[in-house]
Order: sequence, then C-alpha cells, then structure tokens
Amino acid sequence: MASNIGKYEDARKSFDWNIAKKELGWKEGEPLNIGALCSDRICDLGDAEKTALIWEGFGDKHKSYSFADLRAYSNGFAKLLEEQGIKPGDRVCIFMDKIPSLYFSFLGILKMGGVAQPLFSAFGDESLHVRLDSAGARAILTTKKHVRKVRKILADLPALEKVIVVDGDGSKLKDDELFFDVEAAPRVDSYDCYPSTPETPSVLHYTSGTTGQPKGAQHVHSSGWGQYLTTKWVLDLKKDDIYWCTAGPGWVTGTSYGIIGPWSLGVTQCVLDVGFGAAMGYKFIQDNKISIWYSAPTAIRSLMRQGTDTVNEFDLSTLRHLASVGEPLNAEAVVWSEKAYGLPFHDTFWQTETGSMMIANYPGMTIKPGSMGKPFPGIEATVLDLKTHEPLTEPGKVGLIAFRPGWPSMFREYRSKPEIYRSKFVGEMKDKEVSKLHLAKDLWYVSGDRASIDKDGYYWFVGRDDDVINTGGHLVGHFEIESALIEHEAVAEAAAIGKPDAVNMEVVKAFVTLNPGYEATGDLELKIMNFIRKRLSPLAMPQEIEFSEKLPKTRSGKILRRYLKALEWGEDVGDLSTLEDD
Ligand code: PRX
Repeated sequence: MASNIGKYEDARKSFDWNIAKKELGWKEGEPLNIGALCSDRICDLGDAEKTALIWEGFGDKHKSYSFADLRAYSNGFAKLLEEQGIKPGDRVCIFMDKIPSLYFSFLGILKMGGVAQPLFSAFGDESLHVRLDSAGARAILTTKKHVRKVRKILADLPALEKVIVVDGDGSKLKDDELFFDVEAAPRVDSYDCYPSTPETPSVLHYTSGTTGQPKGAQHVHSSGWGQYLTTKWVLDLKKDDIYWCTAGPGWVTGTSYGIIGPWSLGVTQCVLDVGFGAAMGYKFIQDNKISIWYSAPTAIRSLMRQGTDTVNEFDLSTLRHLASVGEPLNAEAVVWSEKAYGLPFHDTFWQTETGSMMIANYPGMTIKPGSMGKPFPGIEATVLDLKTHEPLTEPGKVGLIAFRPGWPSMFREYRSKPEIYRSKFVGEMKDKEVSKLHLAKDLWYVSGDRASIDKDGYYWFVGRDDDVINTGGHLVGHFEIESALIEHEAVAEAAAIGKPDAVNMEVVKAFVTLNPGYEATGDLELKIMNFIRKRLSPLAMPQEIEFSEKLPKTRSGKILRRYLKALEWGEDVGDLSTLEDD
C-alpha cells in the first residue's frame, strides 16, 4: 500500500501549506473552525454514520459514537455554553478523565468561539489553581469525581463563574453548580458555528519551563491545517484505519493527534480510559482491530519489559504503522518493536509550542534506530551553535534545535508573558512586534533541546538545554516542585532534578535542607511527601527526597541543579567556576 506522503524528498521539494487548505476545502476569507472541521464537515462529506469514537472505560464499559453523534453532542456543549453567557474568546477549562464528554466538549467550545483549556484530571488543587488563574477561565466542565478539587479553590478564582458537572444524575451538587448530561439533553443536530478565522484563539495548553509557573501556549484555529497534514503524512492515516493515540487531551499530543488530526481526516479513533498495561493494551488493539498506534517511549519501554510472550497471546495483525513521541526513543525500543510486532516505532519530535510534528520518521523512509528522523516537509529546521546561535553546518556537531517561524500550528503567545515568548526567538529582534514573531522569516524559534544532524540529514536528540525534567514524556519544571516543598514548615531550601530511570528515562529527585529544629528522618520524608502530594500532579511527585546540609550554589546564590544532576547521572560535573566557596 502506497503511503500518503509518497517519497519524502519529493514531498519536501514540492511542499506548500496550501495543500492542507485545499484538501480541507478552505478558501481565503472564509471562516475556519476546528470544531466544524472535525465533525460537521465530515458529516457533510457523507460520513455522518461512520464511527468517530470507540470508547472503553472502567467496569468494562464500551461505547461508540458516529460523526453525526460527534456533531450533535459538540453542538450540545456549544449551545449550553452560549446559553450560559460564555462569549467567544472566553477560556473554558475541561477537567475530567478521558470520557466521551471530554471529546464532545472540546469541539463544542471551539464551535462557539471559546478557547479550550484541557487539563489533566489527576492534577491536585494547587496545580489546577495555578493554571485556571493564569488562563482567567470563565467556566469549567468537570465531573462529580473531580468537582471537589474545583470547590476547594473556587473562592480564589474570581474569573471562574460557571462550574458545570457533565456526569452523574445532578444530585449532591452545590446551588451554584450546573448539571449537564449532553447525551440525555435534547439532541442539537445543527448549530451555527462561530465564524472564527485562522488567527482566532482555539486551544490553550499549559507547559512547564525552567522559571516560574507553567506557561499557557496559545494556539489558533489555523493549527488544524498543520495537524491535518502531519496526521495524514506522518501517521499515514487513511479512511479505513482504526487509530489509537494513547495520550490524553490534558497534553498537546492528546488534542493535536487525539482529536483534531484524526477527526479532521474523518478517521475512526479509539480511546481507552482505564490506565495502561501490556495485556490490556494488546486486547484493546485486538478487539478494535486497531491499525495505527501513536504511543510514547515510556509505554514502549514498559511493554518491552513484559516481553514478546504477552505480545504473542494476542492477534495484533491489524497493526500497520506505529509512531512515538515525547521523549527520546532509544534504538533498542525500535529494534525490539520490529521483533515483537513486525513493525518499528517511528519516532516523532515536537512540542506543545509547535502544535504539530516538526521532525519525524516517515512511512517508507529508512529508519536509523535512535534518530528522530528529518524535518516535516514545509518545516525549515536547523541546529544552532550553542553560543553564537548561527546554524551549524558540520555534521555531528551538537547545537540547539531551531525552526524557522511560519508553520500554521505554531503557538502565538505564552499567555500574559510576552517577554518569555520573545526570549524563545533568536536573530535580529530589534523593532519586531511581539504579535508578528510567528511570521518572522529572519528569526529562529529555539526549542530548548539539543541535537546533532548527521551527514544524511537525520536529527539525533542529545538532551534538554535547560533544567526541565522530562519524566515519562511529561515536562515538569523544578520551580513547581520546589515551591511546593518549601511551603512545608521543615524545609528551608529545595532543589529538584531528574535522576535516571529505566522506564521513565527520568524521575524527579528532590534535595532539601531543613530549618533548625528538624531532623532528617524517614518519618519526616514521608510527612513532606504527603504534604506535597496534595499540591502537585502525580507526575511531578519526587520519587526520593535527599536531605542535605547545604545545596551547591553559584556565587550569586542560584542553586546549581546542573551539578546535582551530573552527580546523580555519574557525569562530568563540568565548569564549576561559579560554584560558591565553602
Ligand atoms: O524535550 C523534548 C521532548 O519533549 C519536549 C516537548 O514536550 P511537550 O511540550 O510536553 O510536548 C510533548 C509532546 C509533543 C521537547 O522539547 N521530546 C518530544 N519529542 C521527543 C522529545 N525528546 C526526544 N525525542 C523526541 N521524539
């Protein structure tokens, strides 16, 4: 079967983003709305009765929905929000497990012109508060299981006017909470979508950085063009495929490739809302005849540990293409998957900020196991010298991965943080308006990652260029963890780093110094752990707390996490000239 992309080099040579616009039937000056693109348009093309979503949840619950259902239920949410006084441009948070209403409401928010802010349902109240506050969200859609966390912080969120619970029977809600079960409500088969333009804000995703609290990367409706074409060319989705993206929409993978990409192509996708294990995952593939699977290295490494015996217990013969994202995909995992499934995992590299895949291994292209592949056609990529920021021309030299601005799914700002957004670009910045940086063809957008390019043009990931911890594919900023730690009365100072882990690549380790009067005991470690558990997401939780007499610092007093990390990884500690004297 020929791949959608055809020959990579040819696709690159003749590339034009108009391909996406044309295939999606969009003409200059017309509205562009991702909600409509993913449901109404597919129905109008004659696929109203085709299955859009196959869903499995706890208690062996199975449900399936057609594109007509997707249209009606997303319309239902759009209408509800409109009736509740939510206006175009308002941020609406979605805070729930991967239940069908998450998917319906995401499209519904976009249909009425709102900005969808999906958040991971396991976030504790502190993580939730920080992100809702920054977004200035006016409404939150949640479930009876998670509404407790919203209640705890509601008083500190003056912008948050509407709390809407989308499951259960509406009992035990507070007076000011609204109950809305979209499947029980009158079906809304048609709805006039907000006439958004390619530049209208669409999705707001929070991502962790080195400084300060998580930043809100704001996307716009034109991202749909990038997500559509990369899904088609990199994941190779075709009309009859059954697709599974393991990521939840709390992260960008779960929206770009777990909602927008597949549904803009009218493809059936599956969602498994019951955690993840080898046998469970394989059974899900077998039962649903999944053909394309987009996963992550941590999941793949844990599958490797379960071995090929488990694989052989299932019929996985429907699988035809596998891809991965989020962390370095080690060569062994690629080689193993070829042995276990007869198919290699194709690594892809991108970020919350880029909105769509930037570097990837394409169907039909020779994979060099361990490499991230080559830039997507239409993406100009390079690695920049670490100091001069000039593009490196010598193969194998390590530099900063950078992209020429201008691709459609690039983020447009970090919400309320123009200076941090500006700092992501290098080149002649003078006189450049911050609102135009995403179009500046003489600048580079710098990803914050290091890589080298080999003589054949393949990119090889080296590591992050900052202190951000990537644990199991999820970025965690040390600031969040340290802030939670120092709120504990016993903790004087704290430093969080990533330490090596066989499955998750990195897990969080914290170093703390104690206030006078406290003793470094196992009991205290447990108390501190319990204290921060309430404030942090489970992913950001340290696996270990080490008590120290003092933390290494620069002469100017900054904690040298780099030093702690090098010791932990058994690496050269590097230049210590700035280390504070004893
Ligand atoms: O450090 C890189 C790593 O994940 C970061 C982006 O994380 P996030 O914004 O949460 O988006 C993740 C899903 C798109 C990158 O800056 N990363 C992503 N893909 C890869 C990777 N590291 C190595 N190899 C990859 N393929």
